[in-house]
Amino acid sequence: MTKVLVATEKPFAPVAIKGIREIFDNAGFELKLLEKYTDPSELIKAVADVDAMIIRSDKADREVIEAGKNLKIVVRAGAGYDNIDLTAATEHNVVAMNTPGQNSNAVAELAMGMMVFLARNQFNGSSGTELKGKKIGIHAFGHVGQLVGQIAKGFGMEVFAFDPFIADEKIADFGAKPVLSVESLYTECQYVSLHIPANEQTKKSINFELLSKMPAGATLVNTARKEVIDEEGLLRMFTERKDFKYISDIVPDCKEEIVKNYEGRYFFTPKKMGAQTSEANINAGLAAARQIVNFIEKGDTTFRVN
Ligand code: 3PG
Repeated sequence: MTKVLVATEKPFAPVAIKGIREIFDNAGFELKLLEKYTDPSELIKAVADVDAMIIRSDKADREVIEAGKNLKIVVRAGAGYDNIDLTAATEHNVVAMNTPGQNSNAVAELAMGMMVFLARNQFNGSSGTELKGKKIGIHAFGHVGQLVGQIAKGFGMEVFAFDPFIADEKIADFGAKPVLSVESLYTECQYVSLHIPANEQTKKSINFELLSKMPAGATLVNTARKEVIDEEGLLRMFTERKDFKYISDIVPDCKEEIVKNYEGRYFFTPKKMGAQTSEANINAGLAAARQIVNFIEKGDTTFRVN
């Protein structure tokens, strides 16, 4: 019998687990759950006897892949797959997939919600600012970026976008203005919302040189990955630009220094929660379960990333 492990340090909503269970029951697969684990050794132990695995931001590193002696497929229920060692997976004939677009709306709503929250001084009763009329730059116009653009337009923001992999016409079709270079996006926009993946090209790419191009009232919104930020440059921005604010769904390593020195100019969620809604859990969790069934039963490799 095919055994599937759902390993989530940050669990799915119960309603999503119910749906995942139904999909595997119907396929005649066995479901094994590992939720809220606190030590990677628990994952290494749990993966030992399964054929397939669903994870979120859980690390599927070489040790995990190699511990999965029967492992044939790992599906990241979500967008970013920087937590999977793709080289190790390929070496061991393990198919890696993601579920693009399934949790995007939740992330986009959080990005916008955090912008309002900080623009209104964290709802402390003092006089804040509005999003209407401000320029927002969407850095990478994938599923989340497109939705942020759409919601931002509803707020009356002027939407710009930069994405070297998406044609200008497509960006324009979504009602955003394409810009020629990443530098012009930062030069133009008071708000920049990050939607780039973390990889060798993007790590530490959001640096002082880029950020310092932003006009007065600069706010950087990060619902992507902490690794894309050059934190030295981020701290320099906080020091040299008194107008600069930073909103992030991923706590930076330099959090203490920011908290100590720059009150009112930052907001960090306590734990990455962009995709933490019932809807996103259902969409991504069920998509991952279906992808596993389709792969095991029919060899379907749609959304394979390695
Ligand atoms: C993603 O890449 O899909 C998001 O960062 C969500 O991650 P999570 O499933 O760990 O919340």
